[in-house]
Formats: sequence, C-alpha cells, structure tokens
Amino acid sequence: MRKLTLLFLLAVAAIFTACNNTQTADASAMKYSITEKPFGVFENEAVTQYTIANPAGMQVSIINYGGTLTGIITPDKDKKPGDVILGFDSLSGYLQKGNPYFGCLVGRYGNRIAKGKFSLNGQSYQITVNNNGNMLHGGVRGLDKVLWKATKLAGDSSLQLTYTSKDGDQGFPGNLAITVVYTLTTDNSLKIEYSATTDKATPVNLTNHAYFNLSAGKEPTILNHELMIKAEDYTEVDTLLIPTGKLPAVKGTPMDFNTAKPIGRDIAAVKGGYDHNWVLRRTGTGLEKVAEVYDASSGRFLEVLTTEPGLQFYTGNFLDSTLTGKYNRVYGQHAALCLETQHFPDSPNQPGFPTTTLNPGETYHQTTVYRFSVK
Ligand code: GLA
Repeated sequence: MRKLTLLFLLAVAAIFTACNNTQTADASAMKYSITEKPFGVFENEAVTQYTIANPAGMQVSIINYGGTLTGIITPDKDKKPGDVILGFDSLSGYLQKGNPYFGCLVGRYGNRIAKGKFSLNGQSYQITVNNNGNMLHGGVRGLDKVLWKATKLAGDSSLQLTYTSKDGDQGFPGNLAITVVYTLTTDNSLKIEYSATTDKATPVNLTNHAYFNLSAGKEPTILNHELMIKAEDYTEVDTLLIPTGKLPAVKGTPMDFNTAKPIGRDIAAVKGGYDHNWVLRRTGTGLEKVAEVYDASSGRFLEVLTTEPGLQFYTGNFLDSTLTGKYNRVYGQHAALCLETQHFPDSPNQPGFPTTTLNPGETYHQTTVYRFSVK
C-alpha cells in the first residue's frame, strides 16, 4: 500500500513538473529574443550580427557595419519561413566595391545632390562625389560604410544604433549625432526610427536601402510583384537622375501605381527601369501608409508606412548577375525592389522642395514601418 502511495505521489509530481515545463516552454516561446553572432572584423573592430526574433516567427538580422539589415525572415501563406531581402553571408560581401547598398542605412543624405554642391546660409559646400560627378547616398564614405555602436534595448525587441558623423565628414557641415532604432513588433512589422541633432545647419536625409523580393528567391525577379504607391506626381529627373525641379503627374503614365499593378506591366516604357522619387499623397506629417507590395507566389504582402514626403522606388536596374548573395543566389536585373522613404533628391538645390535643413537646437525625425503579412 505504501509503495502504491509513493508511486501515486511520484506520478502526480511527474505530471506537475511536465505541465510546468510545458508552461515554461510556452512562456519562453512567447518572448522576444536578440541573439548575437560575430560577423567579421572591420578596421580592427569586431562586427556583430544581431538577430531579433518575435513570438510570431519573424526574424530580423542587423549588423553594426552600416547598420545593415542582413536578413528579414517572414512566413509565407503556408507558414513556411523565407528571407525576403537580398544580402551576403559574410562581411566581405558587404565590403566589396560593387555592393549596391544592400540593406544599409543611408546618409547623411540619401539619394543625389547635383555635383555634390549646395550653399547654406551664404556658405558653399562641396560633398565628395561618387556617381557620375554627383553625390549619391552621402558621398564616398557614407553612413553605410562606417561602424555604428549597437545597444540592445530592454524588452529584446529593439536594437539601437548610434553614430556621430564629424563636422566636415564628406564635406557636410556640423557634428551630426544620429540614432537609429530597429524594432520588431508582434504584428510582424519592422519599425525604423531615425533621429539626429547637429551643431551647425546641415542637410539631412536618412533612409534604409533594403532590397525586397517577397518570394524569398522563388521568383528570380520582382516583375510579377504587384505594387501600389499613393502618389499623384513624381520628381522628374535628367539622364543622370538629378531632379529637373518639375513634378509631372503620374496619371495616364507608366508611373501611375495608385491602383496596384504588376511592376513588369509598364516597366519597358520607363528607360532603364523604375528609379524615381514619388511625391507621396499624404494627409499630414504623421506615420501613414504610402505603399503596398504583393507577391502572389508566396502570398506575402508588404505595407510601407512613413512620415516622409517621398519614396524612391527602384527596381534593381543596375543588378547584372555579377553578385552572388545568400543561399547562393545570383542577383540579376530586377531581382529585387527598393522602397526608400525619404525627402526628395537634391532638395538642397531645389527651393521648391520640402526643406532638408536641420538647424542646431532642432531634432530630425523620420519613422518608417515595413509591415509583413500574407493574403
Ligand atoms: C538608389 C538610386 C539608384 C541606385 C541605387 C544603388 O536607389 O536611386 O540609382 O544608385 O540606389 O545602386
């Protein structure tokens, strides 16, 4: 009898422990985590890859070199996870000369400034030029080519990156102290919050340069992805992609994405492919949805929300199969698309465009959300 009681008690204890374990396992599965992995060495400093995971099975990986997004893993319509951005397996991929800004933070001035020249408060400035005599994405050594300081924030869902670009860096005036916070949320959104302060008036235009292919490599190009952009006009550019100052209407042209359409439908009518800034139709200055992308092959749906007035939609026109990235994928033309939320290109030379000048005492803010779901 005693033996039986003992057995009974042991059994109850075992069941109790098992239940408790299940509870613990469930509880931990419901949590966020940020894991770290060494990702090489840049200028004698260690580069680290941080991976934020949420309870819904989404993962975002970021390296402190260039504040670069190296992976975004989201489930497809069959709940199968897949990586929806282009990138490389190792740091050497990102350091190579031909890296077309995969996933990185872009600044101090995203997009182009004609001849790298502008004047501000009566003083002229020359920024380093790196694109047909013009400045692209902050000059020769932009924020994509420096090491940021990374800090995991409480709650394990946000990674904060900070960097101070010194007065005169690439020719820009003022010490610019920049903070970028990447946050993964429970609804499978990646939120990117940028802020910056300066001690001299200076132009600022920060963004991220992720290349998306929502099929996670199933489709070699994004030409079948359907895109919607809320915009009535775009900034017309010359052959070197410098704005002319004109804002033609998109209506009745291949540039009209107000009703979602496959990217490939009209692309042949756009010389070189899409690489333009759309003037977003906004109701205010807060966070608003401005674009959507849908890939029927995977069912993945991406919504883009931003506080910015412009959106550079770029169809990877310069990808030419010379780069091999993650999963041994060769990146051919139109392998991915970029949706760079921004102020308009060359604003420092275009008085008609919304200003990009940040003055001492002010704080620059921009927030962009990439929200993933399936349909
Ligand atoms: C931006 C530009 C493009 C190209 C890419 C990087 O999207 O508008 O012209 O330079 O960056 O390759």
